Amino acid sequence: MRIDILTVVPELLESPFNHSIMKRAQDKGLAEIHVHNIRDWSTDKHRKVDDYAFSTTAGMVMTIEPIERLINHLKSEREYDDVIYMTPDGKPFVQQDANTLSLQGNLIILCGHYKGVDQRVRDHFITKEITIGDYVLTGGELAAAIVCDAIIRLIPGVLSDETSALTDSFQDGLLSPPVYTRPAEYKGWKVPEILLSGNEKKVEEWKLEQAYERTKKIRPDLLDEEDM
Ligand code: ADE
Repeated sequence: MRIDILTVVPELLESPFNHSIMKRAQDKGLAEIHVHNIRDWSTDKHRKVDDYAFSTTAGMVMTIEPIERLINHLKSEREYDDVIYMTPDGKPFVQQDANTLSLQGNLIILCGHYKGVDQRVRDHFITKEITIGDYVLTGGELAAAIVCDAIIRLIPGVLSDETSALTDSFQDGLLSPPVYTRPAEYKGWKVPEILLSGNEKKVEEWKLEQAYERTKKIRPDLLDEEDM
């Protein structure tokens, strides 16, 4: 999978992909991430990429031209499955979206800044608009990094068995059950007996029950009414 990220602050994306599992995914050739500075595609001598909004609302808007030039350049080199725009007024990103996107080949992700991009960019180039939550960040870069992380870890071969994505919270519609490690007792705080029993069937039942109870308490919105 190849992801091209379009931004006016490429520095913000220097770190997230250069460590741990994201780095390993790239080293193994399972994912390629290319960060592009939209300013490099401006023809303005000051590398300007924004302008005043046609309205009374204060704030700058990202202009069409440099973005169009960069997107067209990328599209002339390869096919893209989606051109995603990170924006607080997009569709909320959930695990199912990560699953779907992890099966794609090439993606472009445009990070919004200032008051966002000219609506015509959204109308003519963007195929998906994504928000990572109901709060406003200073730009789409950190949101893009989150989406990339969620997608890339699902690519087969990226995670080892111990970190398998199959047991993640949300994959089965429930939050994850609690986990414990050694020691079995610490300051009198005991690991639940069942986990030490060696009875795999009972342990699985316990985990499902715990996952359900945790979901009911913390995220009842994830449960159907008949599950409650
Ligand atoms: N840009 C600013 N806020 C954002 C959010 N919540 N999600 C995605 N992109 C954003």
